[in-house]
Amino acid sequence: MSLFKRKNKKLDNYSLKHGVGLITYDDPSSTISEQFNTIRTNIQFSSVDKKLKSILFTSSAPSEGKSTISNNVAVTWAKQGEKVILVDADLRRPTIHKTFDVSNRIGLSSYLLGNATLEEIIQPTMVKDLYVIASGPIPPNPSELLGSMRIKGLFKALEDKFGLLILDAPPTNAVTDAQILAAQVDGVILVVPQGLAEKAGVAHAKQALDTVHANILGAIMNRVTKAESQGYYGGYYGGYYGVEKK
Ligand SMILES: Nc1ncnc2c1ncn2[C@@H]1O[C@H](COP(=O)(O)OP(=O)(O)OP(=O)(O)O)[C@@H](O)[C@H]1O
Ligand SMILES: [Mg+2]
Repeated sequence: MSLFKRKNKKLDNYSLKHGVGLITYDDPSSTISEQFNTIRTNIQFSSVDKKLKSILFTSSAPSEGKSTISNNVAVTWAKQGEKVILVDADLRRPTIHKTFDVSNRIGLSSYLLGNATLEEIIQPTMVKDLYVIASGPIPPNPSELLGSMRIKGLFKALEDKFGLLILDAPPTNAVTDAQILAAQVDGVILVVPQGLAEKAGVAHAKQALDTVHANILGAIMNRVTKAESQGYYGGYYGGYYGVEKK
């Protein structure tokens, strides 16, 4: 069975309106929550020499599950006792304010524009040790904002204040936002939905991330069916694959 398929994709806007499902919060003892624990452990072990201070989740195309995975991984990490800051760096299709039911009046965009302080944009969530920064109002020029000098200082300040910074980033292929951000974090995880992602698209995303010398830690296969995962993982998250370093 091929891992990649060509399909007429219709953009799924459900999470834009309602946020993503937080199974790790709603049902922490479920099989899927266990799989998120495994993903977290694998990410931790993918960098044994250096403790990861910042990680970014992206995928080749929109609506492939970046927010679902990054947000649930953030919950499992915080539950382990790490103080986590989850940032909605998708200034085009933000969802974190919906998922965690926090205000989006101010957020990342407001800080980058100089309209809000760091203290003002950090919001607590219902999960102990998990804090979020919403996208803030959608700006007309996301790439420019994300490329501004202020963002470097912001990430540094957040890494000092928190044990782990997690970025929910935009897709890599359509715009340069993810590349800009990927160059500034310790590690990048590529989300690859089996049966939805196009092989050329995934290869292109990997190449774009390599161009900016992003440290790709691995890929997460989601939407894997039982038959396709040979019954090993079951459920709907597939494996976590390390990427061979050149
Ligand atoms: N493993 C999965 N199986 C089935 N549906 C899923 C899975 N993960 C996410 N979805 C659904 O796919 C849609 C998109 O998910 P999500 O918002 O996490 O993707 P995204 O990559 O962050 O999208 P965007 O590009 O808009 O930011 C949502 O409606 C979500 O419920
Ligand atoms: Mg998203």
